[in-house]
This record gives sequence, C-alpha cells and structure tokens, in this order.
Amino acid sequence: MDDLKAKYLDLINSAQDEATLEELRLQAVGKKGEVSLQMRSLGKMTAEERQVAGPALNALKNDINDALAMKKAALADAALNERLKTEWLDVTLPARDRRVGSIHPISQVWEEVTAIFADLGFAVSEGPQIETDWYNFDALNIPGHHPARAEMDTFYTHRAEGDNRPPHVLRTHTSPVQIRSMEANGAPIRIICPGRVYRADYDQTHTPMFHQVEGLCIDKDISMANLKWVLEQFFTAFFGTSVKTRFRASHFPFTEPSAEVDIQCRWEDGSVKVGEGDDWLEVLGSGMVHPKVLQAGKIDPNEYQGFAFGIGIDRLAMLKYGIPDLRAFFDSDLRWLRHYGFASLEVPTLHGGLSG
Ligand code: PHE
Repeated sequence: MDDLKAKYLDLINSAQDEATLEELRLQAVGKKGEVSLQMRSLGKMTAEERQVAGPALNALKNDINDALAMKKAALADAALNERLKTEWLDVTLPARDRRVGSIHPISQVWEEVTAIFADLGFAVSEGPQIETDWYNFDALNIPGHHPARAEMDTFYTHRAEGDNRPPHVLRTHTSPVQIRSMEANGAPIRIICPGRVYRADYDQTHTPMFHQVEGLCIDKDISMANLKWVLEQFFTAFFGTSVKTRFRASHFPFTEPSAEVDIQCRWEDGSVKVGEGDDWLEVLGSGMVHPKVLQAGKIDPNEYQGFAFGIGIDRLAMLKYGIPDLRAFFDSDLRWLRHYGFASLEVPTLHGGLSG
C-alpha cells in the first residue's frame, strides 16, 4: 500500500494537465483502478486482516483523491495566471470616437414653436393620428359632399366588406384636435396642437406625411386683431427679426372669415432667405372659428368666439434653416441629418434666443 501511495502521489504531482489527472484517477480509484481492485480482495481476508487493511485502503483512497483535487486546483491557477499575463488591457488609452446623434430640424422647430407659444400662455394639446370621419371633417363643418374632402387627398383606412360605417382617416390636418379639446375642457381655451398629418401628395414641397401646429384661442372677446398680433409676435420670435407677412382673404369651412398667411422670402441658388426679397411662401391658414364648429365642440357661439390657425412646421423649418427640398427631411440620409441636425443638449428657449 505504501508503494501504491508513493507511486500515485508522484505521478499526480508531475501531471501537466487535467486530462493526465483524469487518467490517473481512473487508474487508481476508478471502478477498475488499482486501489479498487485491492478493496475487492478484502472479501477474501480473515476478519482480523480486514480490520487493518480496510481502513488503510480507505485512507489511501482519500489521500489519492485529495492529491488529485489539489493538483487540479493548482493547474487551474497556473492556467489563469498564464491567461492574465497575455490578456491585459490598457485602461488609460483614450476612448474610441463615437458619433453623437443630432436633433432633426422638425423636432427642433417643434420645440421652438412650443416654447414661443408657451410664453404667450398657450398650453399643448394632442390628438390621435388616425381619426374618425367626424372629427376630421363633419365636426369641422366639412359635410360628406364638400369638395374640401376631395381636395385634401385623404388616406382612408379599410373597412370590412358589408361594414358601411364611414372609414377612419389618417388625419389630414391638426384641426380635429380643436374639437377634441373643446369637448374635453370647454371654454375658455388657449392651446396649440403640434402633430403629424397625412395627405396623398408628393413633390419638392409636399410629402405624404408632414407636420402642423394648430392654434386655438376661445374666449368672450377674442377678435381677428388678436389673431394678427399673436401671429406677428410668433414670427418675430421665431425668425429673430421682423418678417413681413401677407394676410390673404381665403376660405376654410371651419373659419369665417378666413385668411392665409404668407411670409416674405427670396430664393437664391435653391435655398430660401426669409425677410428679404419679394417672393412669398404660404405658411399657415387661419380665421375666426365658425359658429358651427363651436357648436360641434359643445361651446355656445352666442357666448364665445375665437381664432384658430394651422401652421406647417416643415415649411417653417425649411424657411428658417434654408432647407430647399422637403422630401429630404424624411429620407434618413445620415449626411443630411448631420448637416442640418442640432446638438441634442441645445434645448430651444426664448431666453436662449431659440436657435439658428
Ligand atoms: N386645417 C387647415 C389646413 O390644414 C389650416 C387651418 C387651421 C385653417 C385652422 C384655419 C384654421 O390647411
């Protein structure tokens, strides 16, 4: 037994890897290993012999198992040390350059517009992009046969065959939010509603999805003069300079009287400059809210009146930041986004002079 012990402890000690250790384990204490065979011979011994040989064999088995475990741990330590020597990292190296994302001009202008109107006391209100026929048209005094429905190039959703309810639409303007906020809050109201709108139209200045901000101000003595003042305040703050505006008499079913508003600009080499030249760009529709619209919103037109307007956010962005083609706004071309984008930490504020 002493020989066996010496032999195996020696072999275990000089083993170089785990595979050799496993072989040695099988040879010594495996089912058919040398120590196990010895244990089997216990049966042939006398009781006295067995009393000595039994514990001695058990002790031998334990010694060999201990030696195996110790060597295994030692090999693992050595392997880890070896790895640590080769796999090291210089944590003092400067970090790799990373591109920081930028704010899209639409988001930027959206925030700027919100900041300006917030300063004038307008709260922000929002509505769904998929609208019912009622909110998008009827409640705004655009009945079924009205040509405005066709003019707006509306996207209709699908109805199952036999379902004769009017289909929902992708809202063609932010005006349905007027009705929703009248219903929700009643008069008086002073809100803007920025959001996405949809029309089937595509060229240099039209995309099937674009952005508007609706304005609505209802109280007992609101007039067209208030509308004009608010819009002029807005343009001055937005462009950071006084901009000539042109109010053209117009027609919308939901306002009476109505006016479209253009801004003075000049086109030069494909880009546009505001506040110069003798070109005009239409940026909004406006007017005094039609009594029927107030009624649809459950507000008494004998008691209340007010103005509404709808501004194209994308147009404003093109004008302020000299961006010639509207379609590029939604191409997700990284070169364009990096060129026209804004630093993400520069939140537009009035006291910070907005941006530009
Ligand atoms: N909803 C109109 C449009 O999309 C704009 C508008 C809003 C006009 C509010 C008058 C009052 O063209």
